[in-house]
Amino acid sequence: MNTRTVQAESQIFQSYIEATPTSAELYRRAQQVFPCGVTHQARVLEPHPVFVSRAQGSRKWDVDGREYVDYFGGHGALMLGHNHPVVQEAVREQVSRGTHYGSSHQLELEWAELIQSLVPSAERVRFTVSGTEATHLALRVARAYSGKPKLVRFATHFHGWHDHVAFGKESAGPKPPAGILQEIVDNVLVCPPGDLAWLDELCRDRDDVAAVILEPTGATFGKVPLDPAFLPELRRWTARRGILLIFDEVVSGFRCSLGGAQGYYGVTPDLTTLAKIVGGGYPGAALVGRAEVMQVMDPQEGDDGPAPPPVVHYGTYNAAPVTASAGIATLQTLQSTDVIARANASGARLRREMNSVAQRLGCDWCVYGDFSAFHIFPNPDHDPVTPADIMAGRVDSWKLRGAASAQLQHKARAGFLCNGVDVLPWPGGLISGVHTDEDLQRTVQAFEGLLKMLDREGELK
Ligand SMILES: Cc1ncc(COP(=O)(O)O)c(C=O)c1O
Repeated sequence: MNTRTVQAESQIFQSYIEATPTSAELYRRAQQVFPCGVTHQARVLEPHPVFVSRAQGSRKWDVDGREYVDYFGGHGALMLGHNHPVVQEAVREQVSRGTHYGSSHQLELEWAELIQSLVPSAERVRFTVSGTEATHLALRVARAYSGKPKLVRFATHFHGWHDHVAFGKESAGPKPPAGILQEIVDNVLVCPPGDLAWLDELCRDRDDVAAVILEPTGATFGKVPLDPAFLPELRRWTARRGILLIFDEVVSGFRCSLGGAQGYYGVTPDLTTLAKIVGGGYPGAALVGRAEVMQVMDPQEGDDGPAPPPVVHYGTYNAAPVTASAGIATLQTLQSTDVIARANASGARLRREMNSVAQRLGCDWCVYGDFSAFHIFPNPDHDPVTPADIMAGRVDSWKLRGAASAQLQHKARAGFLCNGVDVLPWPGGLISGVHTDEDLQRTVQAFEGLLKMLDREGELK
């Protein structure tokens, strides 16, 4: 059955099409300009994406004037919600002073010192613009420091889209993925998530591994949960073998705690990548880490005086003043309020109440997660699993990752949108510190509305 037939037969898609006519019209134009009709793969939505025209706090409004409780949260960047007054004021002030000096400036220093004071591994800080750039730089720095070529990452963990991390959810197979050199594929070892025995075996007879990179909360901020006991074990294992440990805290940084996952779990990596919250909703990111490792970006002593750093790093928008102002305002607000704790409490409440709805409707879906996230497991094989089973690692990682078919993902998102809530595609959501009781209530009702819609279409059988 092709997509059009599925759409025609689905009441969910029909309702969505009726509710969002202006988005449909704009999407027709977008398809003539953008490959895929969108500007980020995660924004793909059948039958058409929703076009948003404004946002405030925990809500956003589409071009047809419909209001949504927002769990996309600027892809996780908006811990303080949209247009937080403190961030807005800082940005307004900075814009009036200039947006790009092409020079060193005090705000970048203040921003970096704040990060240094909050993130345990941040002895040195180097700003980039995106999380992808930060992980790219982390891997290059690790290779330069160690003089070793190989990198280890974990299947299902996400680190952006540069060549070293963009291929194969598992190993790459005999052919390199489109556009990526076989040499790069050959130098990246992909390990089952959280499997130290596998990793140990993989590295038993080799001494060519520069670094291990992972999402310390498990893939996609805990969609595939990771046993927290794995982190200290991995820390000891990497230290023993002289392999650098990189935490990708692009999402977990300033979300799990002020010190990120490393602060929360008390495990300090050698290098850390930060993005999203660190830039306060503006484009900004950073690689931070041990001074001894980061010194590969310092000038070196050569025979004829100082020589250039082994790793030379550029970037027109690195530490852009407007982003620095938003980043400082955000981090200071997180420091001086209980926003992180509130977001975590909202997460726990949403997961609990959404599970109660599923149970009441006789649906065996599970809503699980930790901190300020919820992940929805659509239990395609109707296994007798509970959220606790998933959190304890008793459900296979690939099953968790791929539980929702592409069609179900589109239906779930479109159905949520029909019920006034915008969720992330997997499906799930990232909660801010400004989601209110009413937002949470509306979300639980929207979940009930969605499940009833899906049931009518036979999707829960
Ligand atoms: C864990 C993780 N690492 C890296 C990235 C890439 O960050 P960016 O989208 O800023 O390039 C993301 C993006 O979602 C991410 O979730």
